[in-house]
Amino acid sequence: MKFFIDTANLDQIREANALGVLDGVTTNPSLMAKEGIKGEEKILQHYIDICNIVDGDVSAEVIATDLAGMIAEGEKLAALHKNIVVKIPMIKDGIKALRYFSNKGIKTNCTLVFSAGQALLAAKAGANYVSPFIGRLDDISYDGVDLIKQIVHIYRNYNYETQVLAASIRHSMHIVRCAEAGADVATCPLQPILDLLKHPLTDSGLEKFLADHRK
Ligand code: E4P
Repeated sequence: MKFFIDTANLDQIREANALGVLDGVTTNPSLMAKEGIKGEEKILQHYIDICNIVDGDVSAEVIATDLAGMIAEGEKLAALHKNIVVKIPMIKDGIKALRYFSNKGIKTNCTLVFSAGQALLAAKAGANYVSPFIGRLDDISYDGVDLIKQIVHIYRNYNYETQVLAASIRHSMHIVRCAEAGADVATCPLQPILDLLKHPLTDSGLEKFLADHRK
């Protein structure tokens, strides 16, 4: 399973990268705004800064919602760095944009996916990644991980190469359940990754080993 960090915060990206287990980064317009990154020039530079920290795929989302706009923005983003993945929303023109970029060999991540039908369309359109938002489904009382299981099952039925990128992950148990479900990637803030470290028996066991060593 690949681990991506879901943030535009460079310090957190550096900290996750220093762990040696980071495979990529996902961002979205809300995460960029949270870091105060505004204006085209600053936004493009920020993606380059991220690519210079992490040696892995970096999803950069288009703002346009029409085909021509998504193509123009996506091509500009893809030209920034070889690791940029153009993030396209799950809308009608988004499907056309996924097909366009797939035909051109530009990597894509289809975002805002909340159903298996949407995931099927994204795969057929040639998306490299599909991003089901599991935390937001949990928020409205659906089991987000069930959607991951459903998509993994469908993709395996037809050998689709689209990778299932479990997004909107809120806690470490989400990561573990997505791994059980066969998600190819989990993207989440730094904390759920760090929380995977925690077990009280690890702490008490280590304390005892060190105490015995000191005797
Ligand atoms: C995925 O690529 C999205 O950026 C993200 O996971 C959304 O998560 P949220 O529901 O916590 O905003």
